Amino acid sequence: MLPTLARRAIEAYSDPGDLVLDPMCGIGTTLVESIHAGREAVGTELEPRWATLARANIKHAQDQGARSSAHVIEGDARQLPRLLATRAPVDLILTSPPYACEVADVSTANLVSGVGPIRRVDTTNYSADKTNLGHARGRAYIAAMAEVYEACAAVLKPGGYLVLVTKDMRSGGTLHNLSGDTITLCENLGLNYWQRIIGMLATVRDSEILMRPSFWQTLHARRMRARGERAHVVAHEDVLVFRKPNPPSA
Ligand SMILES: C[S@@+](CC[C@H](N)C(=O)[O-])C[C@H]1O[C@@H](n2cnc3c(N)ncnc32)[C@H](O)[C@@H]1O
Repeated sequence: MLPTLARRAIEAYSDPGDLVLDPMCGIGTTLVESIHAGREAVGTELEPRWATLARANIKHAQDQGARSSAHVIEGDARQLPRLLATRAPVDLILTSPPYACEVADVSTANLVSGVGPIRRVDTTNYSADKTNLGHARGRAYIAAMAEVYEACAAVLKPGGYLVLVTKDMRSGGTLHNLSGDTITLCENLGLNYWQRIIGMLATVRDSEILMRPSFWQTLHARRMRARGERAHVVAHEDVLVFRKPNPPSA
């Protein structure tokens, strides 16, 4: 997730001193921005490799002056109530879930030579471990994410917000309706659909807006256009906000 986007979401949907959770925290962007903004933070992450980097990023933020604390717990986000134990309930949940795409680091050497895969195999879908939800597709992906969001709803305090950053991406030509699927999943859990914000992947240079779409999406769009198909590159992310209803008062 872009740090600026995380910071804006944290400031908009929580107060200083609140506890912010990222259930799939990756290298810890949400946690770092939370402690810089005076919130407490906790993250869960399946991969020890990313959890270790998240802890290093938290320490770096604290060395730079962030005063709040953040903890990373290794484990499956579908087990949040057990993993968080007495840390729950949390005030805000902010994450960018796995996208059901072939996300990976770029092998610069292969890109330059034109030989071999452009994707770095060890980083494709976040891990070589097939239980990582980065590998889940179709119905398996929907079923797994339903469990993750159910666990999120269980640890979120009533009235608290769940903010999900998703992107409708192309694979195999068509657009994957990830935002629509995510809204359906969360509404089915009884969460209120609160807000949809478009986060442009862009920067301003000399007072002009320059698009900065992802490398992979640019590649897809270029290949489609080379085949004569009419397609634009996806240059935004959907910030989907849900709210856990308060229980009806007695
Ligand atoms: C898109 S990244 C999220 C990065 C981070 N949330 C952010 O916004 O910067 C998705 C992360 O989910 C992790 N992941 C996948 N399956 C998981 C699971 N079952 N439980 C916890 N984390 C998981 C992946 O290892 C990866 O780090």
